Amino acid sequence: MTDFPPGFFDRDDDGDDARFYGPPRLVQHIDDGAIAAVGAFYDEVGVTGDVLDLMGSWVSHLRTRPRHLTVLGMNAAELDANPMAAARVVHDLNADPTLPFPDAAFDTAVCTVSVDYLVRPVAVCREVGRVLRPGGTFALTFSNRCFPTKAIRGWLAADDRQRAAIVATYLRDAGVFDEPVAQQRASTDDPVIGVYAVRRRAGG
Ligand SMILES: C[S@@+](CC[C@H](N)C(=O)[O-])C[C@H]1O[C@@H](n2cnc3c(N)ncnc32)[C@H](O)[C@@H]1O
Repeated sequence: MTDFPPGFFDRDDDGDDARFYGPPRLVQHIDDGAIAAVGAFYDEVGVTGDVLDLMGSWVSHLRTRPRHLTVLGMNAAELDANPMAAARVVHDLNADPTLPFPDAAFDTAVCTVSVDYLVRPVAVCREVGRVLRPGGTFALTFSNRCFPTKAIRGWLAADDRQRAAIVATYLRDAGVFDEPVAQQRASTDDPVIGVYAVRRRAGG
């Protein structure tokens, strides 16, 4: 396990996430070019089958509707407005990183422009590994925008390349994925970085 520096997972606003995310934000968190880049990344990685959109909102940035999409986030009104979602779960991953799903329930999981808010990201990644079927993919994307008071200090202090390394470290430390792959994706103003890892198969 990686020893992150003291204070790495601290946040300026360590108050209840439920309060911060209480008012619905039916907005785009990244620009149109970045949204297109996220969609292309998920397309290439293959976001199909039974999909979990972690830290989701009203848009899942998928080009095609998967067989079954579950969105998990903090705001019920945002999740209700997600037109692709077939199931919606309000769950605070910082209060409880345990995912409320059975083992091997999903083919793919995504997390879009949100990993920077997790205070126990390795535990969450391990949980994603548990709910993914062997050979399933966990794909994360991020840009340089965020709610700075809610992002962890280690993220705010890092540049894009370091952030890709941070996410890859979370996935490695989870101990259930093959070696992660990070890619700088084309975009307009907002950069987009994608990182994915495949859930290890039995005996792998
Ligand atoms: C910047 S928004 C991104 C939303 C969406 N993924 C998108 O691409 O538009 C951050 C999202 O992270 C979710 N989130 C923040 N803290 C969370 C937590 N502790 N547990 C679960 N979800 C959280 C919020 O509900 C919010 O929808």
